[in-house]
Amino acid sequence: IKINQFRQTLLVWYDQEGRQLPWRVDQEPYHIMISELMLQQTQVQTVIPYYQNFLAKFPTVDDLAAATETDLLNAWSGLGYYSRARNLQKAAQQIVNDYQGQWPQTAVELQNLAGIGPYTASAIASIAFNEPVAAIDGNAFRVFARLLEIDLDITKPKSRLVFQEVGNRLIDPKRPGEFNQAIMDLGSSYMTAKNPDSAHSPIREFNQSWQNGTELNYPVRTKK
Ligand code: ADE
Repeated sequence: IKINQFRQTLLVWYDQEGRQLPWRVDQEPYHIMISELMLQQTQVQTVIPYYQNFLAKFPTVDDLAAATETDLLNAWSGLGYYSRARNLQKAAQQIVNDYQGQWPQTAVELQNLAGIGPYTASAIASIAFNEPVAAIDGNAFRVFARLLEIDLDITKPKSRLVFQEVGNRLIDPKRPGEFNQAIMDLGSSYMTAKNPDSAHSPIREFNQSWQNGTELNYPVRTKK
């Protein structure tokens, strides 16, 4: 793959056609953390009003750290998976108390925060702190597997390491957060699981599986 052309094509498309979402208007780590925790188990369209309401109620990480349980759970009410809300507040308290308000800025360090695993840590580190680290979620597995016809079984834990390396090699070090979010947008538009429209995808010329007519074979999953 011609990496520079791929990055350029992807990001030109993202600039023109990427989704405009309320958490994409700035790089505030607090904003990015809230959106990523909400998006862990909830769809984008559902998250939007909750995100806006949550920020209106708890504008800063200090406000969230100090919130009462009632106010916290009220703001989350309807989103489900309430452990995410408790984790979000715990993470806010860790930042305020353990880090004296100085955010950890790398994906490795961000995983010390409550509720933040490898994917969410990479999303926050790339979007808020420009760390060139790929955010490997279901979309990224699918997009990278199709792009490069990667035959690894994505249900095997070791595969994540390979996809992480592939993503880290492809990611644009100048715009890592936007690169990751462009992959998410591709995965939810032209490169969906069941009804991809790869013929019209902005990156079709780089998509090996489309060129070979094998895209629906990817990603590979053995377990069911
Ligand atoms: N899903 C997880 N993170 C996201 C983001 N930043 N934008 C859109 N969808 C997402």
